[in-house]
Parts: sequence; C-alpha cells; structure tokens
Amino acid sequence: MNTPGPSPVFEQPESFEFTPENRKLAEAHIAKYPPGRQASAVLPLLHLAQVQSGGWLPKAAMDYVAQMLGMAPIRVYEVGTFYTMFNLRPVGRYLLQVCTTTPCWLRGSDDVVAACERKLGIAMGETTADGLFTLVEVECLGACVNAPVLQVNNDFYEDLNGPATEKLLDALRAGNPPPPGSVIGRQASAPITGRTTLTGLPAKPAADRSRRNRKRT
Ligand code: FES
Repeated sequence: MNTPGPSPVFEQPESFEFTPENRKLAEAHIAKYPPGRQASAVLPLLHLAQVQSGGWLPKAAMDYVAQMLGMAPIRVYEVGTFYTMFNLRPVGRYLLQVCTTTPCWLRGSDDVVAACERKLGIAMGETTADGLFTLVEVECLGACVNAPVLQVNNDFYEDLNGPATEKLLDALRAGNPPPPGSVIGRQASAPITGRTTLTGLPAKPAADRSRRNRKRT
C-alpha cells in the first residue's frame, strides 16, 4: 500500500488515542520486553493503531505510538513507511491484495487483476467510490503452492481464475464472504490431482519387525 499511485484527497485526523481496551493490549505488548527496550513493541502497537483507525495508519497515530514508546517520531515514521502492511492512506472495507510475483503470474494472476479492475471499475492503487474495495498489487504472499492468490483483509483466497475472482467479489459486495482457502476445494496445499502417497495399505506394525529381530538373535 506504500506503492505510488493516485493520491486521493483525504484528511489526516488531528489526534489519536488508543481506546482503553487497546491501551491495555499495548501495555501488554510493551511488558514483553526488558526495561529500556520498549521500542521493540513498535510493530504490534502500530498494527493496533491501524486496526483501530479502520485499516490505515494516520500520522497522529504514529506520533501517539512514538510518544508512548519514548521514541523520536521519525523512527516510528521509518517503520510505518517501510512495511507495506501499513497503509498510509484510507482503504476500503475490503483491501484486495493481488499477488503478481512469478508463481502467481505463471498461474494466471493477470486474469485475477483484470477481473478485479473490470468488475470494480478501478485501477491498481484505487478505491471504489462506495468505499468498499481498495485494489493493490503485492509481492509473494507465501502461498505459491496454491497460486494465484488474492488476499482479502486477513484472508487468503487461492487457486483463483477470472470467473472465480468475479464470483468472490460479488459475494464480498453482498456482505457474504465465502470461507477462505482454495476456491477449488483443494485440501490445504495437497496436490491438485489428489493424494500421491500413502494411497496403499498401511505398513506392517512395528511389533512384527521386532518379533523377526528376536528370532534372528
Ligand atoms: S508468488 Fe504468489 S503467493 Fe508466492
């Protein structure tokens, strides 16, 4: 989300403060580190701030985290602007992250991108006018075995193609997200053609082998 793109106009909130519940969670994160090392909690605190802010990280939230951790604000900005998981501008209710790295590309990520752009009427980096969808391109999501992969908020949808992507977008728009995972029903990352090992009878129990061993001695 830190990748360059059109710069929609949006307002930065003037202030930010954790809710009492998030403040407790933040303090629990800080307590995991030795005294004087509270800056180590910067990532989970920024993540909390992003979730509380509706999926993006306002500057005021980074300033708040800096103050809470006793860090110079610039050090927190460096973290917030480095990791692409932090969004520096508002995103739609569904953040669509299409992986286009080589394995996904070889397995048809171009069709996934085209389906998203056609169905939603937006280009990469843009958000639909109704605020429902933001579309971004990302590098490997670590699920290459089930390529191509589209991440929707925190969920992965795998083994996609153009029509399956359109169906998924329709379901999201209807507020009825399907279960995440392989859209072709593949079990986890099992071979697409079904089991290739452990397909025969189970091996003889270990007890048989030990009896044989006893006869030999
Ligand atoms: S290349 Fe797409 S998940 Fe790895």
